[in-house]
Amino acid sequence: MTPHVEIHEIISARTHDLRRRVLRDGAADAVVDWVGDHDDSTVHLGAVVGGQLVGISTWSAVPDPHATDLPSIQLRGMATDPAFAGQGLGRSLLDAGFGRARSAGPVRVWANARVTALEFYTRAGMVASGPVFVTEATGLPHRHVHIDLS
Ligand SMILES: CC(C)(COP(=O)(O)OP(=O)(O)OC[C@H]1O[C@@H](n2cnc3c(N)ncnc32)[C@H](O)[C@@H]1OP(=O)(O)O)[C@@H](O)C(=O)NCCC(=O)NCCS
Repeated sequence: MTPHVEIHEIISARTHDLRRRVLRDGAADAVVDWVGDHDDSTVHLGAVVGGQLVGISTWSAVPDPHATDLPSIQLRGMATDPAFAGQGLGRSLLDAGFGRARSAGPVRVWANARVTALEFYTRAGMVASGPVFVTEATGLPHRHVHIDLS
């Protein structure tokens, strides 16, 4: 069952705990303040259930390395607290981010998706393309995903 979720814009510092716990295996020395976090174009969206921040995502104007004529927004740092996984919160964050992205006109949203989470993105309409590659920050296999919104 999907719990009642509110999607809010949050300051970047509020992403740090979930980034560390969910995306960096809880590593105390993990870098959780990322390049671009404080750019003017960057928006951090949080999923809040019962007053608790249980999901995060970060959206920034960054050109897509797979060329497109559309303005592009990179989605990063997508994470749901494991205690709340599989309840539709990640999808709520995607839908909110897509809605904001398309409000200024046609736009591409792209991401480097962990292969383990690829289906999460494709179920939301994103398309995987190109080869599998490993990111330096995680050491994990990823694929490029994108969706063109109008
Ligand atoms: C991937 C992640 C963000 C998904 O968040 P979530 O809140 O559990 O996702 P939702 O419950 O909204 O799932 C939406 C849909 O995607 C599917 N889905 C979610 N995670 C999936 C996964 N890892 N593999 C396959 N399908 C997945 C769900 O089954 C659901 O399908 P449906 O539309 O048919 O019901 C979350 O599991 C997570 O934080 N994983 C660990 C960190 C991670 O890999 N982040 C992505 C980095 S690129």
